[in-house]
Amino acid sequence: MALPSKSNQLSHEVVQLAGELGAEVRGISLKDAGAIEIAAIRSLLLEHQVLFFPDQFLQLDEHVSFGRQFGELESHPNLNNPFTQHPEIFELAASHGGLADEWHSDISFQAEPSVMSILNMIECPPVGGDTMWASASAAFDALSAPMQDLCLGLSALHDAAPHDRSDLTAIHPVVRVHPQTGRRALFVNEHFTRRIVEMSHRESDLLLGYLTRWISSPRFTVRYRWQAGTIAIWDNRCTQHFVLSDFSEQRVIQRVTVMGDQPKAAEAPRWQPFVRTENEGATSRYDTQLDRHLGRDAIRLDSNKKGSPE
Ligand SMILES: [Fe+2]
Repeated sequence: MALPSKSNQLSHEVVQLAGELGAEVRGISLKDAGAIEIAAIRSLLLEHQVLFFPDQFLQLDEHVSFGRQFGELESHPNLNNPFTQHPEIFELAASHGGLADEWHSDISFQAEPSVMSILNMIECPPVGGDTMWASASAAFDALSAPMQDLCLGLSALHDAAPHDRSDLTAIHPVVRVHPQTGRRALFVNEHFTRRIVEMSHRESDLLLGYLTRWISSPRFTVRYRWQAGTIAIWDNRCTQHFVLSDFSEQRVIQRVTVMGDQPKAAEAPRWQPFVRTENEGATSRYDTQLDRHLGRDAIRLDSNKKGSPE
């Protein structure tokens, strides 16, 4: 349903694309966006979580200037651009192995992950290469009361292993609260989240496996078919996304990433980080990364001096 929307002099059309998130917006020229347009976009983003603006065809500098109006930009901490070297642009080309075909929110392995991402579709295949987004707040809301209660007391370790940097880690609450809406959202994803901090690795694998599958349930998602020139804007604090690897032609995107938000827990942590109760053994390797992040290397090394299993 198309809903004409007016704010001061601004007139634009908003078409909702799915029940939980996603809307297409026409009638706003992003390269000319000023304070009124930015305020309207911020408000629409809080309501719909991911927005699509077809037929914008922004030049690189226009894309960057538009992004700067939302906050400080960062390119990518670990990956290099295949074509351009602009310090605030992150570029992905399918021909260069750039395809995010696992559910994630952008750079969640950082202590202050991305607030929002603004993607410019430069070149896309005639069919295939759609992107899906899921509402992590709708996914939290639909959990049972006991599962919500458990998740509210937990935190999780994220790492940059997909970029060969499993040493880059951060711990975030499993349920974060959105600073503007106050809405709670699951904040674990299959791409970057490695471990529930308060649980054994076996328990963690079970719970993370469940939660990450749950978030990707079709009922919480929207799927978007791209055309070159479209700009997409999404809120990484309450959504995750996934690119379908079902095409063979070139697909090139450029993204700016707005930084500056530290996830806030919906509730205070309820338990201490997991501590092994068994002796050191082969399964201890599953705790190494968590030990390192927590500065527990010394304990582990002392323990290893007792000898290694044969
Ligand atoms: Fe992404």
